[in-house]
Amino acid sequence: MQNEIQKRDNERIKMARLFGKMSRGEITRREMLQQGAAAGIGAATLALFANGPRRAWAQDATPAAGVEVGSTVPVPTDLRTDLTGQEITAILGNDGPGVPFEEAMIAKFSEATGIVVERISGPTATDERLTQYLQSFSAESADIDVVMIDVIDAGVVAAHAIDLTDVLASQGVEYIERIVQNNTVDGKLVGIPWYTDAGLLYYRTDLLEKYGFEAPPATWDELQSMAQTIQEGERATTPDFQGFVFQGASYEGLTCNALEWVASNGGGEIVDADGTVTLNNEKAVAILGQAAGWVNTISPEGVTTYKEEDGRGVWQVGNAAFMRNWPYAYSLGQNPDAATGEVPVIADKFDVVVLPAGTGEGARNADTLGGWQMMVSTYSEAQDAAKEFAKFMTSPAVQKGYAIELSLLPTIPDLYSDADVLAANPFYERLLDVFQNGAVARPSTPSSVLYPELSSIFYQGVNGILTGADAASTVEEMAADMETLLSEL
Ligand code: GLC
Repeated sequence: MQNEIQKRDNERIKMARLFGKMSRGEITRREMLQQGAAAGIGAATLALFANGPRRAWAQDATPAAGVEVGSTVPVPTDLRTDLTGQEITAILGNDGPGVPFEEAMIAKFSEATGIVVERISGPTATDERLTQYLQSFSAESADIDVVMIDVIDAGVVAAHAIDLTDVLASQGVEYIERIVQNNTVDGKLVGIPWYTDAGLLYYRTDLLEKYGFEAPPATWDELQSMAQTIQEGERATTPDFQGFVFQGASYEGLTCNALEWVASNGGGEIVDADGTVTLNNEKAVAILGQAAGWVNTISPEGVTTYKEEDGRGVWQVGNAAFMRNWPYAYSLGQNPDAATGEVPVIADKFDVVVLPAGTGEGARNADTLGGWQMMVSTYSEAQDAAKEFAKFMTSPAVQKGYAIELSLLPTIPDLYSDADVLAANPFYERLLDVFQNGAVARPSTPSSVLYPELSSIFYQGVNGILTGADAASTVEEMAADMETLLSEL
């Protein structure tokens, strides 16, 4: 058995080197596979590397550009090479559009360091992901070395994380200070900021023009009436057309959406910095009631079960006027499909803007702060190798690649003035303040280890409102439950 594992690892290391050559354009995919086979590499390992689909992103959206996934990132030269042969397991993104890029990064890392990384997809919903991590951590399991953690997780996972302060310092660049602070628990840097996130309003520029709208909606009222008009018009030819899609399922993503609604209407941020529950107010009730009115009017009835990818599915095929989503949907809507080279029907027909404001006193634009960090488990038996991997994944070069190829937001301020990054993502410049400082944080710092429960009170309650429960009494109950919960702190 040991020999089998050793053999597989050696094969992977060899293939990773060939994959790196291919990524740099020195050999073709076919040559990579031929040379691998000639070197005696088994079919299973070859298949692992053969499946990395082609990605053709290009400014002019021409699939012929044929740029390989990950080719914007060079093989690193600043990592340790004395850990060759060590094996680590990393829990990374869910099975989705980001996987080929992650695999390409792993191949480059292995090529540079000789460290073998087993990549495991995590669950789609961040809350389920956290539950799985905690199960593994509570068993003090050495099976997991590196995990990606959500920006809301720092307090909850801190006890199981090693301090990464020295790794961050070794990168030699500044990271967004606010996120570093967020990830620091009792002086320990629990995770290195990998990419940040902010909720955005996606809108169809062609449809706004077609229906005579000069600008994207500035308020939710405007969004509502624009969505209504466009939906009515488009349904004549596209019966499934939707005005507005968002994340309405009962999970953490709904907390993000509903925090945006409430904060934008002057209703506060659920819990304030001192840990006082602020949710029970008229403005919160009003906007949550308004959002409930979208279901089955400008939004599909099923939106109350939608997570990010459900809404994007509707949007990406051209069947929605507006979508609330994170920046990752930008490159996917703009660039040819990685596997098929097909240009999305919405390419060059949409743009992004801050989410609408509510109305009345205190109304403002509010975009929820999201994002992910690399954490190393304290139970890992290969901590040095794991640290090198966390260092690489959060490095300026990899963050730049993520920004260019997948429109993920860097956590390194300097990258927002990088010409290549801006060419791929013209909206970064316009929304710089939101991305670097202005997004609204969920109350994970004041609620600390209780945040997951606090958030589940909120998203379950809001999902109830979206599916017909009375807004005022539900808000009152949620606030009371939150107070009881936080009194445990
Ligand atoms: C995105 C955000 C993350 C958030 C999640 C909710 O992944 O980056 O912070 O918790 O969406 O679905």
